[in-house]
Amino acid sequence: MSFHPNNMANTTNTGASTQAPPPKFTVALAERLVQEAKLNVSVLPMPTPECPNAIQVTEWYRTELSTEFKILNIWNRAELLGKGGHGTVFLEHGISGVRTGETRAVKVLAYDHPGITAQQLASLRHKELLVSIFLSQPWCERHFVKTHSWFTIDEAPNLGMQHLLGDLGAVQLTPRGPIAPDHARVVMKQLLQALEFLHSQQLVHRDLKPQNIMVHSMPPFQDSWIIKLGDFGSLEYYSDISDKSQIRPGGTPGFVPPDVLGYCPNDEMNTFLQACKADMFAAGAVLFIMLTRLAPFGKAGMHLDRYAHGEMPIGFPFTYLNSSICGPDCKALVQFLLAVRPAGRPMASTMLATSNWLHGA
Ligand SMILES: Nc1ncnc2c1ncn2[C@@H]1O[C@H](COP(=O)(O)OP(=O)(O)OP(=O)(O)O)[C@@H](O)[C@H]1O
Ligand SMILES: [Mg+2]
Repeated sequence: MSFHPNNMANTTNTGASTQAPPPKFTVALAERLVQEAKLNVSVLPMPTPECPNAIQVTEWYRTELSTEFKILNIWNRAELLGKGGHGTVFLEHGISGVRTGETRAVKVLAYDHPGITAQQLASLRHKELLVSIFLSQPWCERHFVKTHSWFTIDEAPNLGMQHLLGDLGAVQLTPRGPIAPDHARVVMKQLLQALEFLHSQQLVHRDLKPQNIMVHSMPPFQDSWIIKLGDFGSLEYYSDISDKSQIRPGGTPGFVPPDVLGYCPNDEMNTFLQACKADMFAAGAVLFIMLTRLAPFGKAGMHLDRYAHGEMPIGFPFTYLNSSICGPDCKALVQFLLAVRPAGRPMASTMLATSNWLHGA
């Protein structure tokens, strides 16, 4: 076997670096960073025949000695980049100021959760804002979609993010098909490094899927793959990692493991570890999809219940990963990640340290 699922001594694979460890996530630190990243804006409707809802966002600041306003940048918002359960993402073009000619992606945090109270909505939005800004700091920005700044329009936080090529599903899997194993390895390593960092900060993503993995560069358009983990709308912070309460269900069907759905018992020691292992299961599903473009457990995970109860044909779904798709080390890694019980799944740090496939040329 190429790695050891429960080798918890290996959970901080920081290599031989002598750099100071990054600061730990705390709500107080994140609140301070959020205040520093806040912008004042005013908004003007700028309808065009193609985009009747287009707006112009003007960033401004107040000069220190007077009440005079100075304009920093003006952005045009006319294109939609994506829409999901937590918000709508727009493309903005800088048309005046120091950012003229640049683009940025702006996520308007909306949350399409019927029945939640205004207070719950505000708290969910605020949590996503805190985490998005924290994960954009220099010590970890290489793993995550960077949120430079934020502002509010009609009480909704708008996150000003780096504009990337799009999500892994939209730019590769849907139009171009599966990813060759040598390339999937590069993507997977970066994804696991992002998870290793999150988990070391007691943060759990809880909604890993190709649509939440953004692509910064990809062959053949650029030399190599660079991906960044995004969408922190479902993320959870475990301030108490010895907590043994029942896990809060979450995630997207097809990526949620059997123990979270109650198809098998949880055999992890606490809720935080169970939640980390749910991220690892989703990472396994992402790798399976990258290699085959097939969802491992069928549409929306329809076969997961029977898989968990051992009622699917022997080898399901790993027989898809035959030698024409990938080698045995890669297949072994997918099998570990998609283990039915959470204790059978390795942590990201363990995999990065011990998987033969990830270390392959
Ligand atoms: N920085 C970005 N650059 C380019 N495209 C982006 C960026 N951020 C998001 N998108 C696009 O917008 C989509 C929706 O964004 P995001 O996943 O953050 O929203 P969401 O509402 O939380 O989604 P869901 O809850 O359905 O997962 C992404 O899947 C991606 O296609
Ligand atoms: Mg999303």
